[in-house]
Amino acid sequence: MTYVVTENCIKCKYMDCVEVCPVDCFYEGENMLVIHPDECIDCGVCEPECPAEAIKPDTEPNLEQWLKLNADMAQNWPNITVKREGPADAKEWDGKPGKFAEHFSQEPGKGD
Ligand code: SF4
Ligand code: F3S
Repeated sequence: MTYVVTENCIKCKYMDCVEVCPVDCFYEGENMLVIHPDECIDCGVCEPECPAEAIKPDTEPNLEQWLKLNADMAQNWPNITVKREGPADAKEWDGKPGKFAEHFSQEPGKGD
């Protein structure tokens, strides 16, 4: 089992999650983060820290797309363990539908 970052992280990218993870298993894309499923120890402390409620346990239904995306992108994106300033317009994107289709980027973020 693992926790999974889902669609509402896109363009919100608050990064509160990275500060609480005891095993530093977040990886950074241009406009979202993912969790490495083989590194996550399933502690659950990141889930309530996300202001966008984008982190879910993989026991929830219909997360297949996000499980695959987290696993794939964690191999290509840099590790991030320190919170930076998020996007200035993050609040405007919180809860917007269709963010994956219109705004997902495969480009890596800066990492630490
Ligand atoms: Fe890290 Fe725990 Fe969240 Fe997994 S559940 S990403 S180990 S804080
Ligand atoms: Fe994304 Fe939430 Fe972390 S918006 S960067 S999963 S705090």
